[in-house]
Amino acid sequence: MSKSLVIFDMSSPRSPFTVGIFDSGVGGLSVLRAIRALRQDVNIHFVADQAHVPYGSRPLEQVREFATGITNYLLKEGADLVVAACNAASAAALHSLREDFPQIPFVGMEPAVKPAANLSSSGTVGVLATPATFQGKLYASVMERFAANVQVLTSTCSGLVQSIEAGDLDGTATRSILEEALNPMLEAGADSIVLGCTHYPFVIPLIKSIVGTGVEIIDPSPAVARQVDRLLNEKTPDTEVPRPSGRVQFCTTGSPAKLSELSPVLIGESHPVHALRWEGGKLLHT
Ligand code: DGL
Repeated sequence: MSKSLVIFDMSSPRSPFTVGIFDSGVGGLSVLRAIRALRQDVNIHFVADQAHVPYGSRPLEQVREFATGITNYLLKEGADLVVAACNAASAAALHSLREDFPQIPFVGMEPAVKPAANLSSSGTVGVLATPATFQGKLYASVMERFAANVQVLTSTCSGLVQSIEAGDLDGTATRSILEEALNPMLEAGADSIVLGCTHYPFVIPLIKSIVGTGVEIIDPSPAVARQVDRLLNEKTPDTEVPRPSGRVQFCTTGSPAKLSELSPVLIGESHPVHALRWEGGKLLHT
């Protein structure tokens, strides 16, 4: 969510802006939901790279290649702004995406250690994220800037992304992954838990049932949506007539049928889902 150069094509000022959103999978829908809660007037083009999910256990270099390929595709589809709705992709690629595509503003994710540290009374916070996120320089920088006065406990919640992709939001297997991650944090006195993966907001009810009351669960997607809104507002003159409501289009490199089935369960919305395939590092319509 750092500053970026914002240049929009204002040649047809009354048509909706197009916001490109991508993730390895359905996690990006938690960010999409937050953006839609603020802005119904933008077109949304969402790409779930489900052929490659999970990103979190892959080398950062490979995730960077995926993020670059998806960004090229989103720009071709007319995106005015791109949201890396994925902590792993932000860790791997946000810096290089901003360098490689200076004509477009990017909004990315970073683990919300700052609000967690501010909210914590016990001085101990927990961060749940994937290995790629913890390896990235972004996390190291967040820790350096915001974690000087708190103890931070981490867990990679192995298998949780796959459970959520499978639609298992409250089964026994999902519960045991979360118990294994959260119990040591609770025993150490953690009173704020940071969701450092965009898939995890979909298991907030389960997390709450494990941590009980008195523990803050921090989902950064509303803050990311506010940043998207700010960037769009910067380029929307006050005098402009209201924009029409936008279209939402979902794309996946995995199974369109599965994404169609899961999106109403996760965000209470369904939209047309198109299939994409990878070829030589490029994303193509099938
Ligand atoms: N939802 C993503 C994130 O925020 C990626 C999870 C994964 O594919 O490992 O990190």
